[in-house]
Amino acid sequence: MRRLITSILIAGIFALLGGFAVITTGVYDVAATAPHRPITRWVIETARIRSIKAHAAAIQVPPGFDDPANIPMGVEHFAAHCAVCHGAPGVPRGDIARGLYPPPPDLAKAAPFYSAAELFWIVKNGIKMTGMPAWSDHSDAELWATVAFVRKLPAMSEQEYARLVMANMAHGAQHLHGSEEGWPAPTPSDGHPHH
Ligand code: HEC
Repeated sequence: MRRLITSILIAGIFALLGGFAVITTGVYDVAATAPHRPITRWVIETARIRSIKAHAAAIQVPPGFDDPANIPMGVEHFAAHCAVCHGAPGVPRGDIARGLYPPPPDLAKAAPFYSAAELFWIVKNGIKMTGMPAWSDHSDAELWATVAFVRKLPAMSEQEYARLVMANMAHGAQHLHGSEEGWPAPTPSDGHPHH
């Protein structure tokens, strides 16, 4: 029994030294062009999914967040901040997304894996050690509208997306001419510069 415990301890010390050597000698390749080994991928993906679920558990979904009236705000936000990396129906990802590792997923495919609260948590907080930024400087109203829009992506055609974006651009033009008719009023908590 003693010998067994000693052997386990010695094996443990060697494993620690080995890990320390990998970290300090520089053999680990941090290049975005060197894909993860399956074990590393498993560790990162499991940690990410468990972390998102645990952290989003306490988030209260505001009733009516996916009201059709919020979709214009959601599409505006998505087209301006998300499509460059994630693409959109009929819109390929931008240049910046091509060199990212891990690559930004197509949200029409990825969104159904998450609840509304989880999507909100991801968008508000971002994901460490990936290209996914936190958008915590945006108002919660904008982020919930973006979540509502993202949840519509799986069923959205290119034509529908194009129509929504065009309607928004027309809204922007109206905005310049001082007409707000038919569009939801900006939320009072909306303090960030691009509005
Ligand atoms: C600079 C590029 C970039 C921008 C801009 C960006 N993302 Fe991401 N996003 C990423 C990357 C990279 C990942 C993958 C992270 C990972 O694999 O862990 C990601 C992951 C996600 C995920 C989780 C998907 C999954 O499969 O786990 C969601 C949801 C998401 N982004 C939504 C958004 C929304 C909504 C916006 C706009 C407000 C946005 N992202 C803007 C790069 C970006």
